[in-house]
Amino acid sequence: MLELETETTTATGSTNRRSRTDLPSREPGPSILQVMASLGDASFRRDHGLRYAYVAGAMANGIASVELVEAMARGGMLGFFGAAGLGHERVEAALHRLQKEIPGLPFGVNLIHSPNESELEDVVAKLFIQRGLRLIEASAYLRLTLPVVRFRVAGIHRDAAGQIVTPNRVIAKVSRVEVATHFFSPPPAEFLNELVRTGDLTAEQAALAAQIPMAQDVTAEADSAGHTDNRPLVTLLPTLLALRDRMQAKFGYRQPLRVGAAGGLATPAGLAAAFAMGAAYVVTGSVNQACLESGSSEVVRKMLAQAEQADTAMAPAADMFEMGVKLQVLKRGTMFPMRAAKLWELFRAYPSLEAIPEADRGPLEKQFFRATLAEAWASTRDFWLKRDAKQVERAEREPKHKMALVFRSYLGLSSRWANAGEPSRVLDYQVWCGPAMGAFNEWTRGTFLEKPENRRAEIVALNLLYSAAAHLRGVALRLQGIPLLSEETVCAPIEPARLHELLNAKL
Ligand SMILES: Cc1cc2nc3c(=O)[nH]c(=O)nc-3n(C[C@H](O)[C@H](O)[C@H](O)COP(=O)(O)O)c2cc1C
Repeated sequence: MLELETETTTATGSTNRRSRTDLPSREPGPSILQVMASLGDASFRRDHGLRYAYVAGAMANGIASVELVEAMARGGMLGFFGAAGLGHERVEAALHRLQKEIPGLPFGVNLIHSPNESELEDVVAKLFIQRGLRLIEASAYLRLTLPVVRFRVAGIHRDAAGQIVTPNRVIAKVSRVEVATHFFSPPPAEFLNELVRTGDLTAEQAALAAQIPMAQDVTAEADSAGHTDNRPLVTLLPTLLALRDRMQAKFGYRQPLRVGAAGGLATPAGLAAAFAMGAAYVVTGSVNQACLESGSSEVVRKMLAQAEQADTAMAPAADMFEMGVKLQVLKRGTMFPMRAAKLWELFRAYPSLEAIPEADRGPLEKQFFRATLAEAWASTRDFWLKRDAKQVERAEREPKHKMALVFRSYLGLSSRWANAGEPSRVLDYQVWCGPAMGAFNEWTRGTFLEKPENRRAEIVALNLLYSAAAHLRGVALRLQGIPLLSEETVCAPIEPARLHELLNAKL
């Protein structure tokens, strides 16, 4: 029998911590470990080669690092490398490392829709095909694009038994029902015809592709870090589950469609609720950035460890700035949300950089850019000449586009400063973060996981799953009239050595 430290809340609201004996074999019904291993959809775990239905979502600029993805894979879970914002050489290097370091273990890479850089999306998708990557997390899509369709259908064939085989899988992350509808539908005929025309597919393969969903798995992303529609999970998830059933009935796919849950998941009760609502798997984000393996910096991890539930704000996004798209960021300890909002206000109010009045220009040059606007344009221009010279040509014709590129340079640099822990720019740090972070900090307060240096992604994930399982098991037993102590349903985080000992015990 193992001693576990548990947390109970007294009638006065204060918290007690004490040891107890783990009870999986004493109580009737399945043990916590059995519940943990059966959380989510069995076919999801089987298809992706996972022990647990737990996914660490992509985090741009390599914040979801190779190390994070490897930690997930070794723990029997799935991680997506954060390819967004990186040039294709860095993505290729990361993919090469993952294929070398964890051959045969599950992992994927993010393919992000880039309306401003459609060529990059195309190059990255082709790279994935050439390199034999089998799984992507497709995100930020409003409608399907040729690159994501090309990836999905590459190598489609029939096996000896005549069944359609799709070597490439897509887990699409969406926050809207229209977008989920596109992904649960077969690839559009116009794209399949185009792929036949370019020789990427044969006519026979295109006919097979018309019978499969673009994505068998769609993640319902509720109020999360980064790009989000701030929908509550309790409304979004049931909506997408209903859509799943309609789409399955309409297309009669041989493989079942599945819906996972993301956004705000960082506590055992949160995960338990998502699984109880019918999520095939859960996806976390904010909490992983706070872990040691993330590509963020120590100073950001410390800032995240201080965050409370309301310490987030919506701020203009660098990648879709002109479209008015916003993303969720940390507001505690940084001026970024206010500064980014100011840039959006100026962009809306003036036709060009030159038209910005002196009263606004001063703070921009002194605090934001620490350079004159002319100098800021010169460095922005150099950046785009190397990355996509067409942007410079357009900016030189269209003053408003020039303003957008300069403002976007600040938005882009602000997240790089945060990742690098640049000490002179703390007030400009852009840190993507959702309310999940505050919830996690609250759950871990007073335990070893309160300290940023103890937050290892695998330990965090396994603790969340273990306690979610305890929670669900407790609810199930209580509903059958079997009385339980409160500490049998609410677990405080368990130290790594004990956790592994527990997990290695027989089911
Ligand atoms: C720092 C950070 C960067 C992110 N970047 C991406 C990204 O590039 N692509 C993507 O699909 N999702 C991105 N996300 C979203 C996560 O993959 C995940 O879906 C989300 O964070 C889950 O919600 P949560 O933050 O409430 O846990 C990012 C999240 C964070 C925290």
